[in-house]
Amino acid sequence: MIPRQQLSPVSPSLPAIAADVMEGLFRTPKSLPPKLLYDDKGSALFEQITCLPEYYPTRTEAAIFRTHADEICSRLGRNVSVAELGAGTATKTRILLRSLLQRQFKVNYFPLDVSAAALQIAKHEVESELESVRVHPHVGDFEDLTFLKRQAPPRLVLYIGSSIGNLERNQAISLLRNIAAHLSKGDQLLLGTDLVKDSEILHAAYNDSAGVTASFNKNLLVRINRELGGHFEPDTFSHVSFWNQAASRMELHLESAIPQSVRIDALDLRLRFGQGERIHTENSYKYTLECLESLLNNGGFEVEHTWTDPLSWFAVTLAVIT
Ligand code: AVJ
Repeated sequence: MIPRQQLSPVSPSLPAIAADVMEGLFRTPKSLPPKLLYDDKGSALFEQITCLPEYYPTRTEAAIFRTHADEICSRLGRNVSVAELGAGTATKTRILLRSLLQRQFKVNYFPLDVSAAALQIAKHEVESELESVRVHPHVGDFEDLTFLKRQAPPRLVLYIGSSIGNLERNQAISLLRNIAAHLSKGDQLLLGTDLVKDSEILHAAYNDSAGVTASFNKNLLVRINRELGGHFEPDTFSHVSFWNQAASRMELHLESAIPQSVRIDALDLRLRFGQGERIHTENSYKYTLECLESLLNNGGFEVEHTWTDPLSWFAVTLAVIT
């Protein structure tokens, strides 16, 4: 990796993504951080992914919530306030909130997301369906979790949808520790994680026949074109996704179909791509229940209960600060 100082200076007037794009594309192999996939368009495409027949995680997790919502809520602190990391449009969360309202009069709900558009939908959907829920949206990434302090204890933090799968193990542990540092003893975390399973099922989920995942992946290039004056031709890149058994993760890449060079005006950059050269855009780690527990323990939490679906494709874990 090239230290940041050696790259041509990224001026403070450039969009926030400039430094990440610069750093990632100077690496060998080239890579870009997965959070860049989630601009408003990317978040909307991901929302579409969650409805695809091949993409089992969302409906499997939702089914776990529907089946066990009562039991999940019975294990929460009295009169909890609820925060959610990467809330998106909060579709699945409404299942839990609905059930929670049978135990407490009102709920304060603090969704955090990088997409303001997604949060606006979340607020509208939650408040129109559930009158006794007050929604306090917060636009931002996971680097600043001080918004958790605005919540009155006892707190429940939702980190569902297997978003944790985007992170390397050490990053996941730091995030958990950071969450823990903003909570008090007795506060809880509800974590949704995708589990290791047959590689054909995994492959299909990230290579859907309608090509939505491919559009989601290529949208990163469209975003760079728009925000940084890039000259990528998305059609000259193919969506490549496969199961990496050794690392226990699905990988997403964009592969240049031809040798080419691409300018990015705002970075004053001309990038070369060999034929078949890839940009690594996302990892989606899959866990075993053992790995999951050790991860949570390392992050400062103790597992209280884990719910899975009948096929054990997905896990929802309630953990408490120790
Ligand atoms: C939002 C990270 C949970 O890993 O399954 C879906 C992202 N990427 N299809 C996942 C994703 C391609 C998704 N997460």
